[in-house]
Amino acid sequence: MLLRALGDLFRGGKAAAQTESARLAGEHFARGSAKRRAGRLTEAFADFSRAAELAPDDPKCLLQAAEVAYLTGEPQLALEYCGRLRSIAPELEGADMLQAQIRFGGEHYLQVMARILDAVRPRTYVEIGVERGTSLRLVQAPTLAIGIDPEPQLAGPLAANQKVFAETSDAFFASRDPRAELGGLPIDLAFIDGMHQFEFALRDFANLERFCTRDSTILIDDCYPLNRETAERDRRRTFWSGDIWRLILLLKKYRPELAIHIVATAPTGLAVVRRLDPDSRFLREHHDRLCREFLAVDYAFLEDDMAGKLNLFPNDWGKIRALLG
Ligand SMILES: C[S@@+](CC[C@H](N)C(=O)[O-])C[C@H]1O[C@@H](n2cnc3c(N)ncnc32)[C@H](O)[C@@H]1O
Repeated sequence: MLLRALGDLFRGGKAAAQTESARLAGEHFARGSAKRRAGRLTEAFADFSRAAELAPDDPKCLLQAAEVAYLTGEPQLALEYCGRLRSIAPELEGADMLQAQIRFGGEHYLQVMARILDAVRPRTYVEIGVERGTSLRLVQAPTLAIGIDPEPQLAGPLAANQKVFAETSDAFFASRDPRAELGGLPIDLAFIDGMHQFEFALRDFANLERFCTRDSTILIDDCYPLNRETAERDRRRTFWSGDIWRLILLLKKYRPELAIHIVATAPTGLAVVRRLDPDSRFLREHHDRLCREFLAVDYAFLEDDMAGKLNLFPNDWGKIRALLG
């Protein structure tokens, strides 16, 4: 009887202490948020890190501590918080995103794409994988831009120079000639960002290249994976680059005439492919055999020298500009 009463007292005391910790964590979190908004990052970090100590199972405290640590120039500390966040809430993509940003630093792929568009000033642009239209909207008139996506979720209306086809890229190329949609012109610049399984990206590349010129450029998103889990064929997390990396290995091996560079831009790299050959039939004629060969490559193949095997290139605009001719 006495033991049970002591047990109840202990549990009651523990619950009260936890409630008090949660209350204090909430106060630090609110103060940290206000300081972050005011740009007082060092002070904000002190509050978020205290909140994370008081509420070690609260993902929002850990994420804020990680982000603000990164913003105050403490990437290693930020990565530690990302690790803790992943251990308590593996499903959240915030830690992956931050880790990807810390890995490369510098400009995000959309900023790099905006620069490329501005430098190349293509007459025509084709994008595979539109989603909300964020990248498609970067394309300004007079460039004629088409996007292809079976389930576009456009965040707003498109400009007059932008048009979306709500179908898969395979269906698009099976039934249409993109030149008919582009004033009879070839594709000057293309962006592959559709289905993130290797064989889809392989067909997208082969289909686009047919309608390019030798001076065109094909960009491929998400070729430089963050880790094995997010580089698998099946999507398990929100953050997912899939196995597009296999396409780079394939192109390097069987199309050595191509100039392939993966710009080290967050979250998972942007390949810039040039010296295209619109007359090449190799990829289309050997599709099944190439799929078999590269689907058999395990992620471990990359691990000893991912940068070398995937032609990683600095995210330095002067150097990227020079790639574009
Ligand atoms: C990562 S999102 C594209 C993001 C967009 N490019 C951006 O940067 O703002 C990928 C999109 O590919 C689309 N998609 C999936 N399978 C596809 C397919 N077979 N052909 C074309 N698009 C596809 C999805 O519907 C999704 O909207």
